[in-house]
Amino acid sequence: MNPIGTVIRFDNVSLVREGNFLLRSVDWTVTQGEHWAILGLNGSGKTLLLSIVSGYMLPSKGIVEVLGHRFGHYDLRKLKHEIGWVSSALQERMYVSDTALETVLTGRFATIGLFDKPTSQDNHYAAELLVQMDCQHLADRLFGNLSQGEKQRILIARALMNKPRLLVLDEPCTGLDVFAREALLQTISTVVESPKPPTLLYVTHHTEEILPAFEKSLLLRKGEIYAQGSTQTMLSQPVLSSFFDAPIQLHKNDGRTWLSTGTNKTKKGDHETAFS
Ligand SMILES: Nc1ncnc2c1ncn2[C@@H]1O[C@H](COP(=O)(O)OP(=O)(O)OP(=O)(O)O)[C@@H](O)[C@H]1O
Ligand SMILES: [Mg+2]
Repeated sequence: MNPIGTVIRFDNVSLVREGNFLLRSVDWTVTQGEHWAILGLNGSGKTLLLSIVSGYMLPSKGIVEVLGHRFGHYDLRKLKHEIGWVSSALQERMYVSDTALETVLTGRFATIGLFDKPTSQDNHYAAELLVQMDCQHLADRLFGNLSQGEKQRILIARALMNKPRLLVLDEPCTGLDVFAREALLQTISTVVESPKPPTLLYVTHHTEEILPAFEKSLLLRKGEIYAQGSTQTMLSQPVLSSFFDAPIQLHKNDGRTWLSTGTNKTKKGDHETAFS
């Protein structure tokens, strides 16, 4: 049974490839009204976790329910119309010769490239989203000519085109300078503060990107949940020092948490340490 208000439920979920556990025994519930940050080193399994949430990968073991749909009992191709997805990898797949407005419109059909004819209502909504993202001046510019930060804002507008109930942001600030990053985080705040916002999942390596609206956090290490709970508790010195297995210092400002390591010790990605 799916209790009303459960957006995601993972029950003892594992993903195994070539004998390796890429995700192991993941138990995780996201409830309506929560926004989650997912933190972990390279190779810890963050993108794989999101690929399962979005129906692009099936677990090897365990029960997954997303937006009331139990995997194995639902046509997962339909799920991509209910979930918005933004990542730097997606940027590279979009058509460089589509305008920003056309790129936003592709979100209506969950396609790369515009092959269907949008209605006038679609066009209106896409234009409205461009205003919401403060990108109306980019509407007629070619996607390929936009800066990284502008592209990411257009991709967020695209992801919102189908009024998704779940918005997945996989390291959306990768490659942005400090100002573009703050502008993108401001855009994300706008989405969170909109009436009836989608549930947001925000993947990052950087604690300072976790906005106060992300009240829950999940710490992933070597494919396992290391800890989960309130962001305030997860982003605390004892939890993060032990999570990263390194001495760290935290600096809190304006509801956000900056981390410094205070050591020259370099740390390998999780699966590098796990399997090599
Ligand atoms: N299809 C696959 N088959 C086998 N191994 C895979 C597959 N996809 C990912 N992996 C491995 O699983 C591990 C976790 O990958 P994942 O992409 O989820 O990491 P991540 O936490 O998102 O890392 P990053 O921060 O670098 O994006 C990595 O070691 C990766 O090489
Ligand atoms: Mg990743």
